Amino acid sequence: MKNRAFALLVIAILGLSCSSACAQDTPHLEKRDGRFALVVDGKPFLMLGAQIGNSSSWPISLPNAWTSLEAIHANTVEAPVYWEQVETVHNTFDFTNVDLLVNQAREHHLRLVLLWFGTWKNGQNHYVPEWIKTDPKTYPREITAYGKLLDVMSPNSPTNLEADKHAFAALMHHVREIDGTRHTVIMIQVENESGSVGSVRDYSTAAQQSFDGEIAAELASALHIRPATWSKAFGADADESFAAYSTAHYIGEVAKAGKAEYPLPMYCNVWIAYPVHALENRDRPSAGQEYPSGGPQQADITIWKAAAPSVDVLAPDFYSDDSVLFRDILATYHRADNPVFIPETHFGASFGRYFFYALGSGAIGFSPFGVDRPAPATAAPAAAAGENRPPNPAENFALFAPMVEQIAQLNLEGKLQTAVEEKGSERQTLHFDGADAVISFGFPQSDGNVPPGTPQLQGRAMVAQLGPLEFLVAGFDASVSFRLNTAAGAQNEQIEILKAEEGMYINGSWQTSRILNGDQTDRGLNFHSGTQQAVRIRLHKLPLYDEEVRRLRQP
Ligand code: DGJ
Repeated sequence: MKNRAFALLVIAILGLSCSSACAQDTPHLEKRDGRFALVVDGKPFLMLGAQIGNSSSWPISLPNAWTSLEAIHANTVEAPVYWEQVETVHNTFDFTNVDLLVNQAREHHLRLVLLWFGTWKNGQNHYVPEWIKTDPKTYPREITAYGKLLDVMSPNSPTNLEADKHAFAALMHHVREIDGTRHTVIMIQVENESGSVGSVRDYSTAAQQSFDGEIAAELASALHIRPATWSKAFGADADESFAAYSTAHYIGEVAKAGKAEYPLPMYCNVWIAYPVHALENRDRPSAGQEYPSGGPQQADITIWKAAAPSVDVLAPDFYSDDSVLFRDILATYHRADNPVFIPETHFGASFGRYFFYALGSGAIGFSPFGVDRPAPATAAPAAAAGENRPPNPAENFALFAPMVEQIAQLNLEGKLQTAVEEKGSERQTLHFDGADAVISFGFPQSDGNVPPGTPQLQGRAMVAQLGPLEFLVAGFDASVSFRLNTAAGAQNEQIEILKAEEGMYINGSWQTSRILNGDQTDRGLNFHSGTQQAVRIRLHKLPLYDEEVRRLRQP
């Protein structure tokens, strides 16, 4: 209380309004040359996230959740807030579960991302309060082409929008009140996997009227097209584009109302359109069937960006073991107007590799889903389902937790790259200014042989340039060595190690635990599974030849 009074006095003396002083401190996104960092308490922050189960934000389930979060070394918990619970009675709010989340996250030294389970949850309306569910006349449902009322709210209804905006704004008001100076809550997910399951768009009379009219002016200008009807502008994709615009506009308005109370960074997670492999003639997944129509899927990012400017990040959830698809999704959502953030992924064997791929594309955060699920009874069947809780989530996060600030900063500056083992790519090269890093996966590595790789493709490495010929290196099941690259005129120069220090950042500064040399550096820096230390390596260049001796000895 005393501190707060003093802070207010300082603010008053300096003539600052609270809103400007607090706003500077509020977690926010920083953009530099098309790259991003999430800034928390003035420092770049990498979210080592973990999402708890859908029904876990309750006093009875939270103790187990905290234990699981600790076990995987997460620094951020993603936890749902249920509209049906916070506004059981229309216009009466109960934020006790939110308070519990904030207080207990603080006790466990975790940051918190709140997930607003409002109008949408997995393309349906299951979290709207009973007073909405039971009154479809006032709060209209989405209606299919043949007239069926869906368990999806109409995104074309102003009443639905007002109700959600009102509740979300109340939530954000409350979060600012309890956390506006502490910043335990660092980001907000607005809705969950929006869009509609069951129909490509809303065919209600009101929606049909809008569909028959012209597309919005801001959309036409964002797409560089002339105003036209939806059918003219989008042809065969008109229904889905209309759904995307309606949903994005609705959620953009919800986000805006929330930001007016407390402008935290806001994102929407995406149930992406996975390719359909089932039947040859179904080369394209269908909107409203295989994925919720109108969500921020790959094809509709531009519509979403135009229609929902208050949503800062479109963040793909990823539930597939196809790493080619994962890289494709990273590339699709990695845009000058969109930071990479993976808010949900399998808590399975692919985790370790995907985390490194995401880091390599500048991700501000990464999170497995359902970390507080009870452990499977037997390892074998669970492993088959890709949910075998391999050690790699914990080992990844344990390695990176002490240096999130440095990693986020290096990514903002574009100095960090990663290599991930793939079949047939057991050796890879990363190009840096002045030198290349050569990564070889799997052990043992013997002279003259290609590196063996690992049976489960678990090799992964990160290299970041700290200065001219100085690098921060970390990884698992990988060795990393450096050579001059030809761009740096390597023909007449050679490179050697000055010092390789194993250690870790602690409270922002590097602490060396030992200097590596001999077998630990002569054939590259070796990172075995379970390593929790990084290496800072300094190299230097020297001429390849003594020119005088070379001249004298030449025949
Ligand atoms: C994605 C959703 O966003 C989560 O809330 C959860 O339902 C998972 N799917 C379940 O796999």
